[in-house]
Amino acid sequence: MANHITLSCVWLLSLLVLAMSHETYIVHMDLSAMPTVFSSHHSWFSATLESITTTTITSTIVTSSRLVYSYTSAINGFTAILSPYELEQVKNMPGYLYMNKDTTVELDTTHSTQFLGLNAQSGAWPVGSYGEDVIIGVVDTGVWPESESFNDAGMSSVPDRWKGECEDGDEFNSSLCNKKLIGARYFNKGLLSNRRNLTLAMNSARDTDGHGTHTSSTAAGGYVKHASYFGYGTGTAIGVAPNARVAVYKAVWEEGVFVSDILAAIDQAINDGVDVLSLSLGQDGIPLHQDPIAIATFAAVEKGIFVSASAGNNGPYLGSLHNGTPWVLTVAASTMDREFTGMLTLGNGVSVTGFALYPANSSSTHGPIYFVGACENDLDASQIEEKIVVCLDKNDTLGEQYYNVQGTNVLGAIFITNDTDVEFFMQSTYPVLLLDPESGKKVTDYMRKLNNGEAKASMKFHGTRLGTKPAPRVASYSARGPSNSCPVVLKPDITAPGSLILAAWPDSVSLATLKKDVGTGTELLYSKFNLLSGTSMSCPHASGVAALLKAAHPNWTPSAIRSAMMTTSDILDNTLQPIQDIGDYNNPATPLAMGSGHVAPNRALKPGLVYNVNTQDYVNLLCGLNYTNIQIQAITRSSTINCSNPSLDLNYPSFIAYFDGNNSKSAKVIHEFKRTVTYVGIGRSTFTAKLTGIGRLNVSVSPQKLSFQSLNEKKSYKLRIEGSRLMENEVVFGFLSWIDNKGKFVVRSPIVATSLTSTAYMS
Ligand SMILES: *[C@@H]1O[C@H](CO)[C@@H](O)[C@H](O)[C@H]1NC(C)=O
Ligand SMILES: *[C@@H]1O[C@H](CO)[C@@H](O)[C@H](O)[C@H]1NC(C)=O
Ligand SMILES: *[C@@H]1O[C@H](CO)[C@@H](O)[C@H](O)[C@H]1NC(C)=O
Ligand SMILES: *[C@@H]1O[C@H](CO)[C@@H](O)[C@H](O)[C@H]1NC(C)=O
Ligand SMILES: *[C@@H]1O[C@H](CO)[C@@H](O)[C@H](O)[C@H]1NC(C)=O
Ligand SMILES: *[C@@H]1O[C@H](CO)[C@@H](O)[C@H](O)[C@H]1NC(C)=O
Ligand SMILES: *[C@@H]1O[C@H](CO)[C@@H](O)[C@H](O)[C@H]1NC(C)=O
Ligand SMILES: *[C@@H]1O[C@H](CO)[C@@H](O)[C@H](O)[C@H]1NC(C)=O
Ligand SMILES: *[C@@H]1O[C@H](CO)[C@@H](O)[C@H](O)[C@H]1NC(C)=O
Repeated sequence: MANHITLSCVWLLSLLVLAMSHETYIVHMDLSAMPTVFSSHHSWFSATLESITTTTITSTIVTSSRLVYSYTSAINGFTAILSPYELEQVKNMPGYLYMNKDTTVELDTTHSTQFLGLNAQSGAWPVGSYGEDVIIGVVDTGVWPESESFNDAGMSSVPDRWKGECEDGDEFNSSLCNKKLIGARYFNKGLLSNRRNLTLAMNSARDTDGHGTHTSSTAAGGYVKHASYFGYGTGTAIGVAPNARVAVYKAVWEEGVFVSDILAAIDQAINDGVDVLSLSLGQDGIPLHQDPIAIATFAAVEKGIFVSASAGNNGPYLGSLHNGTPWVLTVAASTMDREFTGMLTLGNGVSVTGFALYPANSSSTHGPIYFVGACENDLDASQIEEKIVVCLDKNDTLGEQYYNVQGTNVLGAIFITNDTDVEFFMQSTYPVLLLDPESGKKVTDYMRKLNNGEAKASMKFHGTRLGTKPAPRVASYSARGPSNSCPVVLKPDITAPGSLILAAWPDSVSLATLKKDVGTGTELLYSKFNLLSGTSMSCPHASGVAALLKAAHPNWTPSAIRSAMMTTSDILDNTLQPIQDIGDYNNPATPLAMGSGHVAPNRALKPGLVYNVNTQDYVNLLCGLNYTNIQIQAITRSSTINCSNPSLDLNYPSFIAYFDGNNSKSAKVIHEFKRTVTYVGIGRSTFTAKLTGIGRLNVSVSPQKLSFQSLNEKKSYKLRIEGSRLMENEVVFGFLSWIDNKGKFVVRSPIVATSLTSTAYMS
């Protein structure tokens, strides 16, 4: 009895101490220091922790709660709850390399669930048997397994090599997985160790947010007929690689997101045998050796897993992207050639069409129409009650006007605006139609001829318009390069559809709110499909394309797949003009916004030449960036680092050169790059270099012709950029294309020269 009481007291004490001073750390260890007596990483890590002496807690009680995760693939190391005193002891243990405090991670959807989008019936994406048996691992908020997008009808049995599982949990068991959704696991020990007495709303891989269901169905969802967002975008929804398998790893919780859980998820995905990892999340402002996603994905890429990661939604400011990691594909987001519309019909029979996504079923609104001008703070709510109000946005105050009107009891609102970045206002909680100034003039002309009270109109919703031009355009929210964590590699790599993407959604998560009449509150709406926007949505498109390429070319390395996607991408839009950047007044998008261009899956199947990068090339780069041996080891997990060939010149399918800006006195500067390409065509072929100008700089290539006799032959060339200083913060760009003599291939790389100062967080 006495013993029991003592034990209870120790428990209480330990809980108290844990709650007060202990924190969660991720510790990197050097595996070569592991004594041979240990049979596994796990037993060594456990023993390391047990050997720590503590003054307050007996080791048997604490050990179980102290070790949160031991990792085997993504990093060599573990996550543990440690006091400051214990942390110091861990640092003195044999094999200790490096530690980080556990921190939180962000998802890459703009305005949480507000923004919307879909690419269901678009013919641009390959539809067919491609993607068969490729396994795409998605680290996200889990999955809604009942979604039709995960139906496995007609799929062959799960490949034998698959080692994943469908874990039991709240409202989830293995019977919910099938031949499409082949794995579902969840990771929250890190979250629970950071927030000790948290009760999870759904302790399983079931998605209570929607993000993970959306991203995983975007990458590999099957066909679902008659999908739509309340009648907008009606058609067949389909993932980019419809025959690929999906394995979901839930590490993002409504209650919080921690690095330790993300690491555990990637670690497990590597062990389970995924082929492609899709990561629509990231951490800002950290150097490579502290970036958990950079570290964990190095191990993945080393094992031949392709990783696609979102650039982030902090655009359009330069240097705003995350995941600017040399070994992953960093994905920007752009629009598609589809618009969602509503129609306003005036009393004189004239109709105008504008942007809208008002979801309500009651599809039309009739009544008097009333012109206000700018619906700013002096808006008189009684004047516009039960009317369709017309507001003019002359001063870039659309947001303010939208909220002013939302607070009144109008029938509906028409906003006349020049703003083209209006997705947020389209998914309105009251009937809203956004008109461009030209259509707006038809409305104001009609009203000018009538007395107030005589003008009438009706609004109609649920329109979808295809063939919008120009498209694609880089979205304003899409985060921009250069990469702060590795400025010498041009990032992002590519852009893919990210705006208003339609994909599967959980039945239980409301995705739209309707304002009822004033005083009666709001109504929540549900749908099996949702429209979202963000680089979170573009990333799984790229993952799906990578799965298609992997299926077509099982022997291609991750760097070859990336190269194929980049060098064959589109730089022209559907008007055959350079792709525009919404975030830069519709000027031509620079490679710092769109990377190499817009992904073109069909052409990526036959790239002609690829730029391969091996693990030692990445190590040479880290050496060139002056990372210390320990920092490099934290990334590569290898205890022998060969830094005899440091280099800042990675064999990458793009180029970025830094020049001095105004203030420098420097005369001519020469940047030279060396590249080696591998021929992946059939028969003999000769490629000729073609350069498009970049500003006042002289660019040359030698040799200017590369001849190949057979598959997999390698040839090298040099690219030289010569010039004096650029203007302050100037970005100039051009392209190098290798064009073959049979007219089958154009292998294009972007070249950026800039005077932006790279605010590297290196070391
Ligand atoms: C698994 O879960 C489903 C849905 O919640 C349920 O219908 C089924 O009975 C469960 N199966 C087992 C074996 O628990
Ligand atoms: C645990 O929960 C209690 C009551 O909800 C709260 O007051 C306390 O701050 C929580 N402790 C921690 C460590 O979160
Ligand atoms: C919209 O209409 C459909 C079919 O008429 C109905 O099933 C659905 O519940 C309605 N949705 C709302 C939000 O009223
Ligand atoms: C739209 O832009 C044009 C040109 O900048 C300007 O003349 C016009 O007043 C603007 N209209 C509105 C409604 O903002
Ligand atoms: C636009 O903004 C300026 C300065 O804030 C203000 O003086 C002007 O009245 C505004 N114009 C309109 C049409 O609201
Ligand atoms: C690395 O260190 C060397 C020697 O100190 C220096 O010359 C070089 O500029 C540094 N490189 C970078 C990328 O900082
Ligand atoms: C390091 O790599 C170079 C070639 O890159 C090789 O010549 C050298 O032997 C290597 N050193 C060690 C210690 O492996
Ligand atoms: C940089 O040069 C440009 C063009 O020569 C000039 O307009 C600008 O004022 C200069 N800026 C600084 C900070 O010297
Ligand atoms: C570019 O090359 C031309 C011809 O070789 C030369 O006259 C010019 O000075 C060079 N310009 C720069 C900026 O190096």
